[in-house]
Amino acid sequence: MHRLVSLGLIALASLISAQSNVDDFLAKYNTLGQQEYYVNSVASWNVAVNLDDESLPVLAAKADANIAGWEQMMAAQATTQFGDLKSINDTSKKRQLKRIQRVGIKLNSADTILLSTLLINMTNVYNKNRICPWSNVSRAPNCSMPHQQWWRSDPEMFDRISHSHDYDELAYVWTAWRNISALNKAYFQQYVELSNKGARQGGFKDTGDYWRSLFESDDLKDMMDQKFQEVLPLYEELHTYIRRKLLAQYPGRFETSAIPAHILGNMYGRVVTGTGNSPFPGDSPSPSPESDFVPVPEISRPRNFRFPVPVTTLIRVRRF
Ligand SMILES: *[C@@H]1O[C@H](CO)[C@@H](O)[C@H](O)[C@H]1NC(C)=O
Ligand SMILES: *[C@@H]1O[C@H](CO)[C@@H](O)[C@H](O)[C@H]1NC(C)=O
Ligand SMILES: *[C@@H]1O[C@H](CO)[C@@H](O)[C@H](O)[C@H]1NC(C)=O
Ligand SMILES: *[C@@H]1O[C@H](CO)[C@@H](O)[C@H](O)[C@H]1NC(C)=O
Ligand SMILES: *[C@@H]1O[C@H](CO)[C@@H](O)[C@H](O)[C@H]1NC(C)=O
Ligand SMILES: *[C@@H]1O[C@H](CO)[C@@H](O)[C@H](O)[C@H]1NC(C)=O
Repeated sequence: MHRLVSLGLIALASLISAQSNVDDFLAKYNTLGQQEYYVNSVASWNVAVNLDDESLPVLAAKADANIAGWEQMMAAQATTQFGDLKSINDTSKKRQLKRIQRVGIKLNSADTILLSTLLINMTNVYNKNRICPWSNVSRAPNCSMPHQQWWRSDPEMFDRISHSHDYDELAYVWTAWRNISALNKAYFQQYVELSNKGARQGGFKDTGDYWRSLFESDDLKDMMDQKFQEVLPLYEELHTYIRRKLLAQYPGRFETSAIPAHILGNMYGRVVTGTGNSPFPGDSPSPSPESDFVPVPEISRPRNFRFPVPVTTLIRVRRF
């Protein structure tokens, strides 16, 4: 009896101490993490605002390797301390620990530096390349303009793609930006290989497998297929509406059932953003109340529709 009571007390005590260990660990992670991520963000920021300083990307890549090392160390600690997390009841804390335990892309320092350098180089390809500005007079690119005035991705190309209503200028900017993107092909291939290697070392099949794991759903693909089928009728109506509007805006310029990507008001061919990137002067791309439609936000909000966001520009992608 006495023995049972003490066993019970020991079990209780270890439960309580496990609980406070979790809190201590998470508090430590949070405090240290704020410092680690701050240093890392500053290094990335310096690269972004100072394209000409060749030493900054090296520092930023090192900062990425430092933080990757820190994440791996914390993951190992969390695994040593809490194992498979079965003893932890609090679902929120359990999730946090699980997330800490899985670093996802697991590379050594040299490989992390290489991965970061590839990302920085890809970003720089977008940031540094310029194109000849479009001339409103000749309605063609004018390469006699001084190089300083040639267009960058951001802001000039992005600005023209969302504000110009000249079909040919839009086609020019759209193509020229993709010509710049193409310069990243070799970097991108290397990046994919290295990232997949890191994902395998982190216990996943590849990077996609890791990214999907973050949704914490075993049937993500089926769920997405099902959601897609659900929004498809709405999507088709919107597509038709936008196509009709754009045909009126650019009569005779296209006739297929598809909408040319360069006239949608943004670089990535996103239909209907309704955020001022309207390809229609003085008009909103959202279906209006006079038609049989209701404005997009009103349809989407209560039903929690999220419009698919296609690939955005290559920003520096964090490892999660
Ligand atoms: C950018 O680089 C220049 C030249 O190296 C340096 O003087 C300046 O302080 C740097 N600015 C930032 C924000 O890092
Ligand atoms: C955790 O859950 C188990 C089983 O549901 C329960 O016996 C135990 O008392 C719980 N522990 C804590 C600390 O809540
Ligand atoms: C990244 O770009 C720099 C500067 O152009 C180049 O020297 C370096 O080799 C590139 N790094 C990789 C990994 O391709
Ligand atoms: C061409 O016209 C647009 C709109 O009128 C104007 O915003 C743009 O600055 C002009 N481009 C040039 C190169 O003059
Ligand atoms: C091209 O740019 C040059 C230099 O700014 C300018 O003198 C010329 O008029 C421009 N040509 C056209 C067709 O816009
Ligand atoms: C894009 O690149 C292709 C192939 O190099 C070239 O023929 C075309 O003129 C370029 N277009 C623009 C708009 O830069």
